[in-house]
Amino acid sequence: MPAILQPRLLQLPTKILGKQCVLRPYRSGDGRAKFEAVNEDLADLSYWMAWPERHRSVEDSENYAREMAGKWITRDALILGVFSLDEKTLLGGCGFHGFDWTVPSLEIGWYLRKSARGQGIATEAVSLCCTLAFDHMKVNRVWGSCDALNTRSAKLFERIGFAREAHLRGERRDHRGNVRDSFVYGMLARDWASQRDAT
Ligand SMILES: CC(C)(COP(=O)(O)OP(=O)(O)OC[C@H]1O[C@@H](n2cnc3c(N)ncnc32)[C@H](O)[C@@H]1OP(=O)(O)O)[C@@H](O)C(=O)NCCC(=O)NCCS
Repeated sequence: MPAILQPRLLQLPTKILGKQCVLRPYRSGDGRAKFEAVNEDLADLSYWMAWPERHRSVEDSENYAREMAGKWITRDALILGVFSLDEKTLLGGCGFHGFDWTVPSLEIGWYLRKSARGQGIATEAVSLCCTLAFDHMKVNRVWGSCDALNTRSAKLFERIGFAREAHLRGERRDHRGNVRDSFVYGMLARDWASQRDAT
């Protein structure tokens, strides 16, 4: 698997169509949709992640949308909004925010607003991200981590076919001040290919 020497020159799709959702990079004007998605149940999202608390106003979220639009172009983050099929509602987000282009290896992350959960939408969105990473960008590895108590994220990793590679005990202090365990999950291009060949 060759290194990606010039990630900014990668041709990336502007929209990815699934059966239950559409993925596309954020753009100017997405702030209200992002604010509404995050604030549908802020306490729930903030339990696992620090960033939702930064969406206190539509302006905060618009700032985020524009920052992500810029980072998509510079490849400093590849974050996709997960939209309903009619693209009117933002259901969540997923994508890549940590890169080692020499491997190439990408770190994945995700969330769904509460009302969109339990229908397989995250499974579809994350599968589409893996298709983008492995089949389109030709990366060697996609990995991610979650709190060891975040059962829904751990199940999502496992449903897609990621291997649990580590249980890191007492490895970090979370945004609420508690020292936590993390699970690390990884998928290699060869795992993805053999999974696809088996279906
Ligand atoms: C992590 C998160 C995205 C997972 O959401 P989710 O709704 O469990 O995942 P999916 O959308 O793939 O839905 C899967 C569920 O729908 C069910 N389902 C229904 N139709 C389905 C389908 N076609 N395909 C797959 N699953 C389907 C599954 O059985 C599963 O339910 P179960 O866990 O009770 O068995 C969500 O819980 C979340 O946003 N959490 C807060 C943010 C967070 O923790 N982010 C990660 C930080 S590391």
